[in-house]
Amino acid sequence: MALVSEIDLGTPAPRSEQKVSLSIDGRHIAVPAGTSIMRAAAEGGTQIPKLCATDSLEPFGSCRMCLVEIEGRAGTPASCSTPVAEGMIVRTQTDRLARLRRGVMELYISDHPLDCLTCAANGDCELQDMAGAVGLREVRYGYAGENHLADRKDESNPYFTYDPAKCIICSRCVRACDEVQGTLALTIEGRGFGSRVSPSAHENFFDSECVSCGACVQACPTATLIEKSVIEIGQPERSVVTTCAYCGVGCSFKAELRGDTVVRMVPYKDGKANHGHSCVKGRFAWGYTTHRERILKPMVRERIEDPWREVSWDEAIGRVASEFKRIQKKYGPRALGGITSSRCTDEETFLVQKLVRAGFGNNNVDTCARVCHSPTGYGLKTTFGTSAGTQDFDSVEQADVIVVMGANPTDGHPVFASRMKKRLRQGAKLIVIDPRRIDLVRTPHVAAAYHLALKPGTNVAMLTAFAHVIVTEGLVNEEFVRTRCDVVAFQDWAAFVREPRNSPETMASVTGVPADIIRAAARLYATGGNAAFYYGLGITEHSQGSTAVMAIANLAMATGNIGRPGVGVNPLRGQNNVQGSCDMGSFPHELSGYRHISDAATRALFESDWGVALDDGPGLRIPNMLDASVAGRFKGLYVQGEDIAQSDPDTQHVIDGLKAMECVVVQDLFLCETAHYAHVFLPGSTFLEKDGTFINAERRIQRVRKVMEPRNGFADWEITLKIAKAMGYSMHYDHPSQIMDEIARLTPTFAGVTYEKLDALGSVQWPCNEKAPAGTPVMHMNGFVRGLGNFVITEYIPTDERTGPRFPLLLTTGRILSQYNVGAQTRRTQNIVWHQEDRLEIHPHDADQRGIRTGDWVKLQSRAGATSLRALVTDRVAPGVVYTTFHHPDTQANVVTTDYSDWATNCPEYKVTAVQVSPSNGPTDWQRHYQAESAQTQHIASSLAAAE
Ligand code: SF4
Ligand code: SF4
Ligand code: SF4
Ligand code: FES
Repeated sequence: MALVSEIDLGTPAPRSEQKVSLSIDGRHIAVPAGTSIMRAAAEGGTQIPKLCATDSLEPFGSCRMCLVEIEGRAGTPASCSTPVAEGMIVRTQTDRLARLRRGVMELYISDHPLDCLTCAANGDCELQDMAGAVGLREVRYGYAGENHLADRKDESNPYFTYDPAKCIICSRCVRACDEVQGTLALTIEGRGFGSRVSPSAHENFFDSECVSCGACVQACPTATLIEKSVIEIGQPERSVVTTCAYCGVGCSFKAELRGDTVVRMVPYKDGKANHGHSCVKGRFAWGYTTHRERILKPMVRERIEDPWREVSWDEAIGRVASEFKRIQKKYGPRALGGITSSRCTDEETFLVQKLVRAGFGNNNVDTCARVCHSPTGYGLKTTFGTSAGTQDFDSVEQADVIVVMGANPTDGHPVFASRMKKRLRQGAKLIVIDPRRIDLVRTPHVAAAYHLALKPGTNVAMLTAFAHVIVTEGLVNEEFVRTRCDVVAFQDWAAFVREPRNSPETMASVTGVPADIIRAAARLYATGGNAAFYYGLGITEHSQGSTAVMAIANLAMATGNIGRPGVGVNPLRGQNNVQGSCDMGSFPHELSGYRHISDAATRALFESDWGVALDDGPGLRIPNMLDASVAGRFKGLYVQGEDIAQSDPDTQHVIDGLKAMECVVVQDLFLCETAHYAHVFLPGSTFLEKDGTFINAERRIQRVRKVMEPRNGFADWEITLKIAKAMGYSMHYDHPSQIMDEIARLTPTFAGVTYEKLDALGSVQWPCNEKAPAGTPVMHMNGFVRGLGNFVITEYIPTDERTGPRFPLLLTTGRILSQYNVGAQTRRTQNIVWHQEDRLEIHPHDADQRGIRTGDWVKLQSRAGATSLRALVTDRVAPGVVYTTFHHPDTQANVVTTDYSDWATNCPEYKVTAVQVSPSNGPTDWQRHYQAESAQTQHIASSLAAAE
């Protein structure tokens, strides 16, 4: 496949519906009002030379390459910054224009190294292209005068270089950082000849505010900003469009390759989730796919204390099947289970749950969404009728009030955060509800109208207080409630929230936020125009996670902020395919499309397609599997692409459960923490090595395309097929598209999905069926999926996890931009330079009381366990609250988290743990033990790699 090329039309498309007609070089063209002459010409097939213009940025008009003549106007205006007008007659090719353009180009080239043949951008340089386009044949000025040719390169960023000798001061990088990324890290410092691109005033890129999103590199028309991988490997020869395997934004990328080596990942302009933007993870952090610690051969061992032994695929699969069959014979069919992965494709996830239900003959299947967004599924299904966010990402462009609650988009969902910041810079109002001062509270040109720094664990109290204000101050959208919602349920709810015990004044002491601020924020939400809620794990990972989701849905219905662009209830999903893994029937009680396993008609559909009888009762959830294992009833587990020993709460309990099993099969890229307790290790494949689909946070189904052959030999779906066959339940698919055909056949919300359609449209958002053949960007437009919207009473019940004299502080956890989840991938890339360890953020007041300074080792202790890490004293957290990330396994933050969980879904209460913090001398015994085990694992991985 050749390189996928994208045409640059020079300036962004205007939004106008009104058409304007003009003539360009004698050709009549009609374009929307507000279109630039440059774009109109390009749409008509004429490329006007340009350097400072690109269609992802607003026109700037600085390079003077794009001059045109307009009949009746003096001079030669810049076509990028001149809009079309009715009847305009434009000439783009005249002798005068050619002379002027050559003159401008001559000036650029006179201060540019003439090293095209050895330049890394040779063949992909707009300056080179434009010199050719304007017919430059000589440069009269020579190099004797003052120039920038000897300026020093900045190579401080691990992924790209800045070579000022090649800079033409077009400002595209500065504008990309401002307009697209919204970090505003770059300026042009100095004037005239002394001008120079400067990251955060005189610093190098690494030490500046730059977050390495790569937007400036992509915008740069020369080799000034260029990927180090291009310098090292050379220009790519082919590209494949695929989807990022990190977060739930689901950015589209062109994977550009030279031979079978990925040279770079370039965000794809036609990607509907990212529109050509990216973050540091998707753009640069793909090195883990070829990391030397990746395991490429299957391994087995008798006992988990034994050393691993490399075996053939046949032997490994045979071992899995014989052990699983032995276990079922001895302990019964329900002694086995499986865990699907939110990092694998929809098709792979579907197959694992099919293997469990049809092959194992039980419903013991669960997914890591259990530990993140299962309350979203429950809460939105109960209130709206379906378990998914209501909007597409584009919707934020029409929001007037944006509420971000329990989420940190600039770190967790960076590309969407950039779009959100753009809307905020245009004037939308922001309400942040979070115990921590996340970056969005104040970034360049963005300041939250309100930051409600509530106490961890009080979300429901806060949301119900919002509802109290809306109901008691007459801010309910009566028309919406009357026509779209269950009015009886509304009345019950309104009577409940109206009670004085739910007022901001009462809840102020619970939440720690003054009543007048709660009132003002609630009024803004209800009356500020289109209001949209965006929330994350800070909502769901609580004992009242499902209640909080329903409380948000109640607010959206009461104010009519649902069912059109600009509004809605939007869960920001953590992993790339959390939405998909839930959609595919990964939960023990639901088949694909969220249909309960006890529903006979649904079961009959699957039974006739799969040729087996299905168990009609829900199977075990992950925590129940572990409990049953400790109790001696659950003996075998197939874990595809999950690391429950690191990501699930109460690590010691997880380990006890795994150790009590007789056959644990782990399928993964690396010897993860769970693999310490495995008997069979099956090497997994990366997203670059397989075909399939991921579904992002806006229900968008997008293609994952195979870029290279699997280094381990098989894609993950093929491995599941092998296990099924060996166990005697054969499934036949030649390609994942056939698995999608089956999903569509069995799942009404996917009925219209095919790979052909995905290839033709780029992506579709489910529901995609007869009623909505091209998908559904915004849900619940003309009615809720369940019919009438359902208001649910949201009584605030404090968590049982309380602070007290022994554990006086509340621990909450979160993520950082450069790392992803448990860090298995990002720690194996150069992203590690930005986050070499997890630190404990503690307020100066609490730190002072304990004699703790930044950098000190501290012991973090809860009733579940203790760990040690280093402190960061900061007022980003409120007094009484401490915060850490969990990207490094040796921090073992989950040793500290408890087994409390959401009442409806068992989602663990990661966000609230009562702890004590005290000075310490270094790692705990637990951590030392872990480090020893981990060193042994690394040794195995390295020696296996060396033996390759
Ligand atoms: S990489 Fe991104 S954040 Fe850094 S300077 Fe470039 S555009 Fe700005
Ligand atoms: S670094 Fe590149 S994009 Fe930025 S001003 Fe220089 S040439 Fe233009
Ligand atoms: S925002 Fe998410 S999906 Fe997009 S590049 Fe970053 S990690 Fe990948
Ligand atoms: S492209 Fe129009 S002035 Fe640079």
